Amino acid sequence: MTQSPNNTSPRKILVTSALPYANGSIHLGHLVEYIQTDIWVRFQKMRGVDCTYVCADDAHGTAIMLKAEQLGHSAEQQIANVKAEHEADFAAFNIGFDNYHSTHSDENRELSSMIYGRLKANGHIATRAITQAYDPEKQLFLADRYIKGTCPKCKTEDQYGDNCEKCGATYSPMDLINPKSAISGATPVAKDSEHFFFTLPAFSDFLKTWTRAGHLQDEVANKMAEWLDAGLQEWDISRDAPYFGFEIPGEPGKYFYVWLDAPIGYIASLKNLLDRKRAEGEEQGGDWEEYWKPDSTAEVYHFIGKDIVNFHALFWPAMLHSANLRTPSKICVHGFLTVNGTKMSKSRGTFINARTYLDHLNPEYLRYYFAAKLTSNVDDIDLNLEDFIQRVNSDLVGKVVNIASRTAKFINNAGGVLANEIADKALWQQFIDAGETIANYYESRDYSKAMREIMALADAANEYIATQEPWKLAKQPGAEAQTQAVCALGINMFRALLTYLKPVLPALTQDAEQFLGETLNWKAPISFRSDEKINEFKPLLTRVEKDKVDAMIEAGKESLAAAAPAKASTKAPAAEKSGEPIAAEIEFDDFAKVDLRIALIANAEHVEGSDKLLRLTLDLDGETRNVFSGIKSAYKPEDLVGKLTVVVANLKPRKMKFGMSEGMVLAAGPGGNELYLLEPHNGAKPGQRVM
Ligand code: 2FM
Ligand code: ZN
Repeated sequence: MTQSPNNTSPRKILVTSALPYANGSIHLGHLVEYIQTDIWVRFQKMRGVDCTYVCADDAHGTAIMLKAEQLGHSAEQQIANVKAEHEADFAAFNIGFDNYHSTHSDENRELSSMIYGRLKANGHIATRAITQAYDPEKQLFLADRYIKGTCPKCKTEDQYGDNCEKCGATYSPMDLINPKSAISGATPVAKDSEHFFFTLPAFSDFLKTWTRAGHLQDEVANKMAEWLDAGLQEWDISRDAPYFGFEIPGEPGKYFYVWLDAPIGYIASLKNLLDRKRAEGEEQGGDWEEYWKPDSTAEVYHFIGKDIVNFHALFWPAMLHSANLRTPSKICVHGFLTVNGTKMSKSRGTFINARTYLDHLNPEYLRYYFAAKLTSNVDDIDLNLEDFIQRVNSDLVGKVVNIASRTAKFINNAGGVLANEIADKALWQQFIDAGETIANYYESRDYSKAMREIMALADAANEYIATQEPWKLAKQPGAEAQTQAVCALGINMFRALLTYLKPVLPALTQDAEQFLGETLNWKAPISFRSDEKINEFKPLLTRVEKDKVDAMIEAGKESLAAAAPAKASTKAPAAEKSGEPIAAEIEFDDFAKVDLRIALIANAEHVEGSDKLLRLTLDLDGETRNVFSGIKSAYKPEDLVGKLTVVVANLKPRKMKFGMSEGMVLAAGPGGNELYLLEPHNGAKPGQRVM
């Protein structure tokens, strides 16, 4: 287990997860990957492997530049704020990075420039002028997702640059009828500029071999073969100013496209870690090249989602090959997360940010649930909230923790010392024998199978305890030794289960280690502990309560109320596209069901504990309503008092964390400090219906 695949030297592994963009919060969709990776890394470390896990914020690109502008601060401030938020979220979920860096770093600038220099010297960079849509007002070239217009085929309005969500047509953004910049609203013009291209087709043969050499899951390799057979295009790796990124050496006004320097960020984060360690005198001699030189015996594992496979399984190995660096050992691809069987949805409250989850539930629950669902393939995984409650309660609380709670007290009553007799040797042997099977499942990322094995052991342990009935034995005169032996086996089975679960449940295991008075390790087959003291048992995990899950979903809806209307100016999280396409047509009768009224803002105040909401007291001609609105970043409460606005008056009252919200005021704008409450023309009166 601790040998490298060629079995000559100890394994040394660099592991990465995809670098999250510095313009948004971590959500449960992201966490599938970080939890999957973290479990694998913790498993390797437990087995004695020299395994280093690095990550970073992906800090460059137009989306981050525009987000900073929208929030009224510098890009540097933006990436610093988001990095702090990401790091806090990851720490709370016990994602144990050895280093968390940023792609906007000295190391990354240096490495990107070095790698680009090698590509160029090898003749793998081409230049030519291309024509692109340009926003004359913002003075910015527009990527397809920043252009909206009417579909040239089916005439649906408000479609994004390159494809129609209604009829599925694909086109060039300049073919849109009445195209508009989604950033400024200006009509884009066509403009030429010189771009730099990585000559990917030159690597076609190399990639045809590489993608079939065991670095990819079969289904991913098959997908790559389709793309390779269709023929590769040169890859545009430059962007024109203004752009937040690294200027290309010797090419003023030209910047590396974010995806050029993002994967180099993996190396940069490693370099930052190793340089720091060396400076601290911790590790002599180790540097990033030990992992990345062409003949390195270290392994490199990239964990990614299926949406970014082309960058990792084609562009990245080709770049590394050209730059005379080693290519990854494995690209481990996972699917997307659905919640209750469908795409995560803000309106259903199932687009759940890491922080929203943490406000309500224990991260160990989610780590276990994802582990129970994750396989080594790229299928999507579903977080079914009913199943989540049921499975965590039944497996972790009902089966695993229960073993300790049913046996510990009899050991504690007898002075806490474990008996040295193995009461059922065959049963204990099952626990030892399962170890290698479980380890192999972890190694191959078949966590769901590992969890099934572990729970089968837990079932066997519970069955044994139920049959032996130590609570009855304990009352029988003369059965003290037998009670002790049964319970000592119970505690040892619990130790084994927790050892096997430790990569998944680091916090729960830490508490269990406190109770057991030992650090659980898995370098060798598990051994029976006897004649040693355990500490007093304290409850290790509480049940998942449905109320808390419901409250989390409500809070997800609240953050929707508080969030900006989604807009094309930020990259959409993978699970849901940004921008609000015009909704499907409705009948007038449906519209008439919405009772919009003019309301006077009689009072407005901050809501303690909420950084997004204001509490508005609305007067609808004598009728008073309490409404929470997510406009805090755009308005000072005192500026609102006395103003008229429009409220959805017949919206079913919603119970929010801070109280009942009895309606919804209407606002427009991209969000942040740019939110504008609707206000009627002079003459409208509170209580009047809006039609
Ligand atoms: O898709 C994304 O969220 C990217 N920020 C992932 C980058 S991974 C690596 F290549 F840097
Ligand atoms: Zn269309």
